[in-house]
Amino acid sequence: MEQKSFKIGSATVDYYFDGSLSQLRELAEKKTTVLLTDEHVFEAHGKKLKGWNTIVLKPGEAYKVQATVDSVIGQLIELGADRGWTLVGMGGGVITDLAGYIASVFLRGIRFGFVPTTLLALVDASIGGKNGIDVGVYKNMIGTIRQPAFILQDTSLLRSLPDAEWRSGFAEVIKHAAIKDAQLFRELESGSAAFYKRNKTALSELVQRNTLLKTRIVLSDETEQGERRLLNFGHTLGHALENQYELTHGEAISIGMAFAAKLSQERLRFKEAERLTALLEKYGLPTEAVYKKEKVIPVLARDKKKAGASVNFILLQRIGKAVIEPISLRELNELI
Ligand SMILES: NC(=O)c1ccc[n+]([C@@H]2O[C@H](COP(=O)([O-])OP(=O)(O)OC[C@H]3O[C@@H](n4cnc5c(N)ncnc54)[C@H](O)[C@@H]3O)[C@@H](O)[C@H]2O)c1
Repeated sequence: MEQKSFKIGSATVDYYFDGSLSQLRELAEKKTTVLLTDEHVFEAHGKKLKGWNTIVLKPGEAYKVQATVDSVIGQLIELGADRGWTLVGMGGGVITDLAGYIASVFLRGIRFGFVPTTLLALVDASIGGKNGIDVGVYKNMIGTIRQPAFILQDTSLLRSLPDAEWRSGFAEVIKHAAIKDAQLFRELESGSAAFYKRNKTALSELVQRNTLLKTRIVLSDETEQGERRLLNFGHTLGHALENQYELTHGEAISIGMAFAAKLSQERLRFKEAERLTALLEKYGLPTEAVYKKEKVIPVLARDKKKAGASVNFILLQRIGKAVIEPISLRELNELI
C-alpha cells in the first residue's frame, strides 16, 4: 500500500493506493464509525464487514435523493452518532455521493472517508469533495464541496463488479485521457477492458494515474471556477439524458462525449472525433442514442453549467486539450 496526502483547500486528504479493505481499522474506530453501503456491495463483501456498524441501502441512482438522506440521518441518530463519529461510504458513486453529502450536513459536518468499489468511484466520484443528490430528473442539484479525510483504494473489490459497471468506469477514464492526457489515450487504444481486468498491476496503475490526474485538477480549482469545469466533458448532454432514459452514468456521458466531439469538429475544427468514438466503442460504450429533443432541451436549460442564455460546453481542440465554449440554447436546439 502506498500513502499520499494532499492539502485540498483547508483539508488534508489521505489517499491509500493499492490498499486493502482490512486496513480500514487503522483509519477509523469501529465503535464510532458507520459504514454506508448498498445491497450489491454488501452481498459481495459483507462478510468482511463483521463488527462494523453498517447501513445498507437499496442500490441505484433512484436512491440518491433526499428521502434516503432523511432515512440515513434517522439511523445515525438511532445509533447514537455524535460529532466525534466517522461515516464511511463503501460503494460506487451513488454511495460516495450520499455519504459525503450526509456527513457534510449531519450535525453541520462529521468526519468521513471512502472505500470506492466501482472503477468509476475509484477514478472519479470519490475524488474532489463534490457530493450531492438528485432532484427529480435534475442530477446533483443539491450538494456540498467538502473533502473526505481518507480514500482507501482496494481494487480487489472490483472482482464482483458487473461488466456494465466496468464499462461505465472506463467512460470516465477515457474522459480524463481526452481532456488531459494524450499518452493515456494512446495506452487505452492499445489496451482493452479485458486486459485491465485480468492484470492487477496495470489496473492499479491505471487507477492511480487517473486519481492523480483528477486530484491535480481539483488542487488547481477546488470550487470549479475554471480548470475543474473541464471534467464536465460529455456531462452536459449526458446528465440531461441519464435520469430520463435507462442509461448508466457512463453510457450517458459516453453519448455526451461523442456529441461534444462532433460539436468540437464543427466549432473548433477538431479532427479526431472518430478516434474518440472508436475508443469509446472499443470499451463497449454507446456513442449514439435516440432521444426526444423536447425532453432534453428543458433539462439542458437548467444545467448547473448554464450561464444566462448559454450553456458552457466542454469541447476538444485536440486529444489531451479541452476548452470551455459557451453555446447558446438556441444554437443547441438546432444542433441536437
Ligand atoms: N462526486 C463526483 O465528483 C462524481 C463524479 C462522477 C460520478 N459521480 C456520481 O457517481 C454515480 C455513478 O457512480 P457508479 O457508476 O459507481 O454508481 P453506483 O454507485 O450506482 O454503482 C453502480 C452499480 O454497481 C454496484 N456495485 C458497486 N460496487 C460493486 C462491487 N464491487 N461489486 C458488485 N456490484 C457493485 C452498485 O450496487 C450499483 O448497482 C452517479 O450518481 C454520479 O453522479 C459523482
